[in-house]
Amino acid sequence: MKTRTLGQDGFTIGEVGLGCWQFGGDWGAIDEGTADEILSASLACGVDFFDTANVYGGGRSEEWIGNFLSGRGESAVVATKYGRGPEAYPDKHTEAGLRQAIDESRRRLRVATIDLLQLHCIPISVLRTGDIFDWLRRAQSDGIIRHFGASVETVEEGMLCLGQQGLLSLQVIFNLFRQKPAAELFPRAREAGVGIIARLPLASGLLSGKFDASTKFPATDHRNYNRDGQAFNVGETFAGLTLAKGAELVGRLKPLVPSGMTMAQMAMRWILDHEAVSVIIPGASSVAQARENAAVSALPSLPGSLREELARFYRDEVHGHIRGPY
Ligand SMILES: NC(=O)c1ccc[n+]([C@@H]2O[C@H](COP(=O)([O-])OP(=O)(O)OC[C@H]3O[C@@H](n4cnc5c(N)ncnc54)[C@H](OP(=O)(O)O)[C@@H]3O)[C@@H](O)[C@H]2O)c1
Repeated sequence: MKTRTLGQDGFTIGEVGLGCWQFGGDWGAIDEGTADEILSASLACGVDFFDTANVYGGGRSEEWIGNFLSGRGESAVVATKYGRGPEAYPDKHTEAGLRQAIDESRRRLRVATIDLLQLHCIPISVLRTGDIFDWLRRAQSDGIIRHFGASVETVEEGMLCLGQQGLLSLQVIFNLFRQKPAAELFPRAREAGVGIIARLPLASGLLSGKFDASTKFPATDHRNYNRDGQAFNVGETFAGLTLAKGAELVGRLKPLVPSGMTMAQMAMRWILDHEAVSVIIPGASSVAQARENAAVSALPSLPGSLREELARFYRDEVHGHIRGPY
């Protein structure tokens, strides 16, 4: 696994991490034993960055990561998030609430200090006042978090966060179907020494090419209950595309996949070919997926002609179909 630096004076981590939203029930049933196997296989492949949040699976995602790492004496950089719990979102963020959430995350993760605490897609009005960043800096100087960052939905929100002293990382949706951040946000992040964490690298699995318009998902899977943005930002499911349109578009990309890689691997390789990206965080529901995703680090960069074709495809065929703020 090749490594990259996450933010100035930040962590050196494997360039493929693991997204952990699927642990605990928000994507249908995955039990703790399966989560352990996925975490274990990931570590064995050199994946040492796990992304979670206090709300994933009602706290179970953090708890299972904490149980796994402390139970086995393993170490990895764990990034969690604050800001989407009902006690805070959308307009009840307070310093006391942040402190309480940090304490609860420390307990579930079984650590004294959180490696990286990210704001979890909080409203732009809260980002604008800036007070919340002062609270984070105080939490950092008190030693309960090592670093802080922000996860955002839009380029505008990302730009706002980049103006904050001490921000380590910015987490954005970035994949073959969401290419916008590369143009303006990434150069600014590089200038500011802020690391980019690319989430939804597979557009919720869509970019593996395994779905069609008739694919069904469990009732408890957000690809069922949020497919049109009913529960949260529509962009967080299938990167804002409808399942039917997304599946059709992926079908047209399949003939472009270079030999020696899968469709999913081409999609993730394309992201890693952007130098501004520090780490991609694909979720995985099985050990086989975790291994396939980790293997992307060793694959060759995509040829320039293919990159040009993928940029054209996005501009002409995909961009107009994306729903939600972006
Ligand atoms: N607001 C935020 O801050 C926010 C929002 C969303 C996500 N995130 C973070 O980003 C991470 C990644 O995003 P995501 O999980 O939503 O989307 P993703 O990484 O694009 O998709 C992950 C899903 O795709 C499927 N998959 C993974 N690897 C595969 C492979 N090689 N072949 C076929 N299918 C594969 C799996 O689901 P199935 O097997 O069930 O199809 C997996 O759970 C999350 O886990 C979370 O940590 C953060």
